[in-house]
Formats: sequence, C-alpha cells, structure tokens
Amino acid sequence: MTTPFIDVSQLRCHFKSGDDLLAAVDGVNLQIAAGEVLGLVGESGSGKSTLGRVIAGLQARSAGTLLVDGKEMPHQYSRRQFRAMSTKVQMVFQDSYASLNPRMTILASLQEPLWSLGVRGKQARDKAAYWLDRVGLPQSAGERYPHELSGGQRQRIGIARAFIAEPKLVICDEPVSALDVSVQAQIINLLQELQREHNTAMLFIAHDLAVVRFLASRTAVMYLGEIVEIGPTAAVFESPRHPYTVKLLAAHLDGNPRERVLRSLADVKAVANKAPLASDSGCRFAPRCQLATRACSDSPPWLQLSVVDTEAACHRLAYIDGGGSQAQP
Ligand SMILES: Nc1ncnc2c1ncn2[C@@H]1O[C@H](COP(=O)(O)OP(=O)(O)OP(=O)(O)O)[C@@H](O)[C@H]1O
Ligand code: SF4
Ligand SMILES: [Mg+2]
Repeated sequence: MTTPFIDVSQLRCHFKSGDDLLAAVDGVNLQIAAGEVLGLVGESGSGKSTLGRVIAGLQARSAGTLLVDGKEMPHQYSRRQFRAMSTKVQMVFQDSYASLNPRMTILASLQEPLWSLGVRGKQARDKAAYWLDRVGLPQSAGERYPHELSGGQRQRIGIARAFIAEPKLVICDEPVSALDVSVQAQIINLLQELQREHNTAMLFIAHDLAVVRFLASRTAVMYLGEIVEIGPTAAVFESPRHPYTVKLLAAHLDGNPRERVLRSLADVKAVANKAPLASDSGCRFAPRCQLATRACSDSPPWLQLSVVDTEAACHRLAYIDGGGSQAQP
C-alpha cells in the first residue's frame, strides 16, 4: 500500500475549560491519500475545524502522531517548520476577509505563499497574474485591497492563494457558507476544477451535506471530538451505519427548510449541553441514541468495518448490519 499523504493516529487536541479539559479532538485516526477528496461533516462544535487546524499546523496537538508525506511532524512548529509545512498544506477559510492582510494589495497577497519557496520578483508577479486569471478575476483586481472586493471575489483570491504554491493538500473549512447562494456553486465548481487539474488532496469541511456528497470520494462523520463513521461517500450517504450519521442525514434531508433549521438548532443545543470532557467514558452518543444499551455507557466503541465497506464506531454494528436500525433515525 502506498504511504498516505496525511496519516493521523490517536490525535488529541484538548483545551482547558475551567478545571476541566475539553476534548475538541479525541483519539482521531485518519488517512488522506494523495489526490483524494475527503469530506468531514458533523454538528457545530464536533471538532472539525480543530482537526483541520492541527493537520495544517495552525494548532498544536495535545497527543498522537501526525505524519505528513511519511514524516512525523512536531506537536508545535517553529517558524521555519511552519513555512516548510505551508508549502505542502494550505487552508481556505470561511472568512476570506480575515485570511487576507488588509494592508496588502491582492497581487502582493497572492505572491506571499511563493516567498517560502524562494520564488520572488518577476517570477512571483507573473505567477500571481496567472492565478488571478485562473480564478476568474481581471488583472485590475490585483491592484485593489481586500475591502474593495466582494465576498465571492475575495474567496477566489483565498483559493488562488491556497493553490499558488502547489501544495499537496488543501483544507477547506466551510469555504462557501458565508457567500451568497448564487456564487456558492461557482466557487464549489472552481475548487473541484483546481483539485482535479493539480491532483491536490482536499479535506473538505462543511455543514452542507449536498456539497460534500458532490465533491468527496470519502466522507468522515465527527461527533464530539471523535470520528464515528468513515467510508466511501456513496455508502455513508446511502447506507449510513452509525445512529448519529442516520440522525445527521435525516436532519438535513427531511421536512421543509424551516423544520431543518429548527432541528439543527436543537442538535446544536444538545451538543452544547454535553461538552466532551477528556475523562468521559463510553459512547458519547449514548444519551441521544435510540439503540443504546447499558454496554454503550460502559466502554467506548471503536471503528469496525461494516457490511457496506464503511467503518462505524458502534457497539451495535452487527445488529445494524443485520438491518436493525435504519428505520429509526
Ligand atoms: N482555542 C480554543 N480554546 C478553547 N476551546 C476551543 C478552542 N477552539 C475550539 N474550541 C472548542 O472545541 C470544540 C470544537 O470546536 P471546533 O471549532 O473545532 O468545532 P467545529 O466542528 O468546527 O464547529 P463548527 O461547525 O461550528 O465550525 C468546541 O467545543 C469549541 O468551543
Ligand atoms: S455504541 Fe450504543 S449508544 Fe453509541 S451509537 Fe452505538 S448503539 Fe448508540
Ligand atoms: Mg468549524
């Protein structure tokens, strides 16, 4: 088997919260192959952004290993290590304004990632000009400042900046959720085109399950700091195994849009009411699970292969594989 580009094992990222330790990411194992698009979904607060930021080197991990291109990365990077990492892994953020320096012109901002590669001067300017055009903006946009562009145009710059140094992995954290619906599809199409053109691996974090289904070949589902299900996107969406995945899909697909919003708000509250503490034992979904038995609260479930080739962390996977749970979202 070829070495995955990203290989994460037993990754933890805990934050101090008063006297407690909040487990934002708690024992995640994950591989991302070169050139693959992995979707990452889950309710608000489940740890998706934290996991993305740890992989990108923007957030120190508390424990576990992170191999990038087969090399183990330190828990916290020096400036030099971070610069080296940023040539391999880049991020596209939800807030395109915050990710650009307001005092730099767009052309200068575009060239910045190239400096770590030693590309400067005319070569860097030419490359920036090419990328302006590639993301569908006129050359005149290069002379402007971030506040002079629309949200959609700024996100195009965020994407150009992420791809310009030809990284192996681009992590997109809700890249279109702040944009007008009319430009969301254009930005998604642009990301897909660039990903295919450059064979860049992508970790795509989104609440919009339809977009993840469209883009990702594999999908991972996070719940309170843990990956509870992962596998080929079609199988995760068509034959979800984990009771949480079933619930998440039902919340997004059933009813009218207003009902869906109300349901997801209720879900957010449920998560907020049960912040994951590092000392928790048993299955974290147990208080909300219709299939829970006493064993579910005693010991944590681990990811196991299901009959549909996904992996699900559930003590009752054999029962579910036998057809036991799909009627109970
Ligand atoms: N720097 C931090 N300090 C303390 N707690 C943090 C920090 N960053 C994240 N958290 C907490 O970690 C948990 C996971 O947060 P994270 O932002 O990763 O979730 P998410 O899945 O990306 O949510 P959303 O879908 O709302 O973006 C949350 O409970 C959050 O409050
Ligand atoms: S382990 Fe138990 S509580 Fe957790 S999802 Fe499975 S059935 Fe539900
Ligand atoms: Mg987030």
